[in-house]
Amino acid sequence: MNKITTTPDGASFDCDPNDTILRAALRAGVGMPYSCNVGSCGNCKFELIEGEVSHLREDSPAWGERDQKRNRWLGCQARPDGPCTVKFRADPACVPLHPPVSRPAELTSVTQITHDITEFRFMADGPDDFRPGQYALLHLPGVKGARPYSMCNLPGEDSWNFQIRRVPGGKGTEALWAMTPGDRVRMDGPYSTAYLREDSPRDLILMAGGSGLSPMVSIARGAKAAGMLKDRQLHFYYGARGEQDLIDPILLGEDLADSVRFTAALSDAPETSHRQGFLHDVVAQDLGDALKDHEIYFAGPAVMSAAIQKMAHEAGVPMDQLHFDEFY
Ligand code: FES
Repeated sequence: MNKITTTPDGASFDCDPNDTILRAALRAGVGMPYSCNVGSCGNCKFELIEGEVSHLREDSPAWGERDQKRNRWLGCQARPDGPCTVKFRADPACVPLHPPVSRPAELTSVTQITHDITEFRFMADGPDDFRPGQYALLHLPGVKGARPYSMCNLPGEDSWNFQIRRVPGGKGTEALWAMTPGDRVRMDGPYSTAYLREDSPRDLILMAGGSGLSPMVSIARGAKAAGMLKDRQLHFYYGARGEQDLIDPILLGEDLADSVRFTAALSDAPETSHRQGFLHDVVAQDLGDALKDHEIYFAGPAVMSAAIQKMAHEAGVPMDQLHFDEFY
């Protein structure tokens, strides 16, 4: 174990030489800022004051030449080569409610949902505590680095279920699609601050596209289970290209059919009876100024996510009512 000391907060924690500084910080309950866990967002950047680290992914999109000159590293990619002192400002919002645990997990079932979305269920050793909306990192056979996938189920169900869209040629999804029940992986989680806020009195808007379906399904089910839908409305928007991508709203859970308003927005289906257009445009048409009165959760492809952020900003939605992970 290597001792990591933080400045200016003065917290310290142990980090296994094979772990990253971010994950060790979160395991120890230290609120190191982060979002993606895979080197894309840059939120976990720190300055190395003393000691040496190795970087897992040299080509991390969020780690530029300037960072390297200034001795700045990504917490989710940096592994300590010995004791270190690192500088970052801890964020109380990032202190994990359930510290992440790395443990073995076994694939128990595989169910196809649409032509390109499949649900994978894993049984994991150790606790299955997480919040609806969170993700876990899967270390898949033959794939370098972990892949983040969000759970679609609720904690306490004795399994970790993931609805994942197949990316043609994507190393992570190709490895997953090659697995069969009984195969084992290493699973690390939970992570994410984009989880369901049960204490918010506002109505909820959920927006999903592609693999973003998974965390939104979990949040919808979590809101129902927590009794939130007795006095709050939940509008679930699902964005896709054509009718072949549509999901059956029953996927959200049979008990949600009467509690949730479900709208599909299709961006490339001129003949459809569903709403036509991009997801963010359909949501803006429906809600306009009322958007800022909602708690808003979204997940999906980078382009969709950027368009939703812009729409929310223009509608005056406060940042603390927007909940999303920055996976790009
Ligand atoms: Fe490290 Fe996103 S780059 S959490």
